Amino acid sequence: MHDDIPSSTAVGAAMLRAAHQIIDGNDKLLDDPVILKLIGEDAIQHLLERKREFYLPGTLAMRTHVVLRSRYAEDCLYDAYNAGITQFLILGAGMDTFAYRQPKWAGGLTIVEADHPASQANKLDHLIDAGIEIPQNVSFIKINLEEDDLAEVLKQSKLDLSKPMYIACLGVMIYLTRDAIAKIFRFIGSLPGKTEFVFTASQKRTDMWAVIAAEKVAQAGEPWISHFDFEALEDQLKMSGFSRVIFLDPAEAKRRYFAHANLRIPPPRRCSLLRAVV
Ligand SMILES: C[S@@+](CC[C@H](N)C(=O)[O-])C[C@H]1O[C@@H](n2cnc3c(N)ncnc32)[C@H](O)[C@@H]1O
Repeated sequence: MHDDIPSSTAVGAAMLRAAHQIIDGNDKLLDDPVILKLIGEDAIQHLLERKREFYLPGTLAMRTHVVLRSRYAEDCLYDAYNAGITQFLILGAGMDTFAYRQPKWAGGLTIVEADHPASQANKLDHLIDAGIEIPQNVSFIKINLEEDDLAEVLKQSKLDLSKPMYIACLGVMIYLTRDAIAKIFRFIGSLPGKTEFVFTASQKRTDMWAVIAAEKVAQAGEPWISHFDFEALEDQLKMSGFSRVIFLDPAEAKRRYFAHANLRIPPPRRCSLLRAVV
């Protein structure tokens, strides 16, 4: 990422979540009215004008990926909350809206959104422009995950590092170097037991849609640089201090979210989400 340019992929993911609200019918994987306020009228108009592009197979698959990761992360957060976790860190938060549509039970959580300074400034501008109030349990912290020490930065936040926390990091790893990723794993793996980390990790793909998407993000200055082999990833997580690693494979995703719902977006064809527990 460039130092002073907000992430355009964060805006792209927001557009996909917005499209899900507008063009995917009544049955939704993620109910997110706030995303429409956050992106604003002009972006919605732009989306509607290009509606047909949102039904292309590559865009549909990407929409499933983006919507499913938020839904799964929020479901895992609820489980973690019921298991006693009261701290929620969103790493590389982008235009994530959970904090601004949080259910009642989440009022007891300390929520910290961490992101690259330029992306976070852009989000704060959008929140202000949209008149979206920032709830009392929500705070922000700037971080460059390539350059900054996560532990040091989080010491300045409202999180208590001596207690377990729930961390979501969605659509971020692919933009980071292996070194930065290894440091994140080691740090989170060193946090107190019961800490949970839900994140996306992508396998290398060579199909046409992946090639087109990779070119697009590279042109926007956010190239995809890190892909994973899942066996090696599980080993790395275990070596970094995690005791359990659970992959959300396509069959399980289909069973959980697609089997009984009339969704217009297709079930995922690949595994890209996992939950690692310290
Ligand atoms: C594709 S967006 C995903 C945003 C959000 N998590 C979501 O699911 O919509 C990628 C996010 O990673 C963040 N990011 C990428 N490189 C980063 C870095 N070096 N340090 C901090 N954040 C970074 C961007 O600022 C952006 O918010």
